[in-house]
Amino acid sequence: MDFKEELKTYQRLVNIELEKYLRKNDCYEKRLNEAMEYSLMAGGKRLRAILVIDTYKLFRSDYEKCLPFSMAIEIMHNFSLIHDDLPEIDNDDFRHGKPTNHKQFGHSTALLAGDGLFNYGYLVIIKELLKTVKEDNSNSNLENRILALNEFSNAVDRMIAGEYLDTELEGKKISLDLLKYIHKNKTGEFLRASVKMGAILANAPKEDIDRLDSFAEKIGLAFQIKDDILSEEGDEKITGKPVGNDKEHHKCTYVSYYGLEGAKNELEKIIQEALKDLEIYGEKAEFLRGLTLYIKNRNK
Ligand code: IPE
Ligand code: IPE
Ligand code: MG
Ligand code: MG
Repeated sequence: MDFKEELKTYQRLVNIELEKYLRKNDCYEKRLNEAMEYSLMAGGKRLRAILVIDTYKLFRSDYEKCLPFSMAIEIMHNFSLIHDDLPEIDNDDFRHGKPTNHKQFGHSTALLAGDGLFNYGYLVIIKELLKTVKEDNSNSNLENRILALNEFSNAVDRMIAGEYLDTELEGKKISLDLLKYIHKNKTGEFLRASVKMGAILANAPKEDIDRLDSFAEKIGLAFQIKDDILSEEGDEKITGKPVGNDKEHHKCTYVSYYGLEGAKNELEKIIQEALKDLEIYGEKAEFLRGLTLYIKNRNK
């Protein structure tokens, strides 16, 4: 299968799986559930969920076992997007080609839909832990799941720190060190946690977890550099979110720091380094290699 086909197959799998977690029942808070579903099913690329699954598959084939964690990170990611778009943070009006959550449902509902997804991410993992306690006698499975939860929670903690700095430092001139720190935290840590969770859940040897950690850190940074580039020269009809908003908000980004060409050079450098980390996995890492190049070449 070529990369694009495989990506689509993965995206279909994630969407079908996520559907199972939606609350469709009639209840007083139905509109809140609709607001959560609106963002969760709006057409994201599902990269974090896919990273969990595909990294798991480097070591084991029974990938169904990692699906709850894969769903949880996608749910949590969508919480971060709802809050990121709020007037108090980026004040953006559209995402995924549609009005942002607060534009569609109103501010208080959007705030709570974000909170709802935030908690739901944890709930999905806790249910999986309880299932493991009940059904699985091997301690290592439970331990790996707790270690994966730790990665997950740490990523959320770091994302919030990154979002805080990104928001507070709008319009200020900052050092390259601080810029890297913000990118690493607000975006990199979710991608990193996705890869690490996949490896940990598959019971990968420590040296593989460390190598993949280094790979993931690179693609995490690369992902945000590309996001900055798309915010400068992307096509809104394709990205589905505003272009030019970083500049408008005087955000300090890789593009404002290095210029467009400089940012592209940095991106290329990091992508090449990330690809090196995968060499040892040969054919098995073909999709991850494709995904690494996709991070650089994507137009949405
Ligand atoms: C956007 O992430 C927010 C960042 C962390 C830069 P994605 O571009 O992965 O979001 P979706 O889910 O595919 O829309
Ligand atoms: C989003 O960063 C990062 C998180 C939501 C944690 P940005 O604000 O740069 O991403 P977009 O461009 O709105 O997707
Ligand atoms: Mg932001
Ligand atoms: Mg934003």
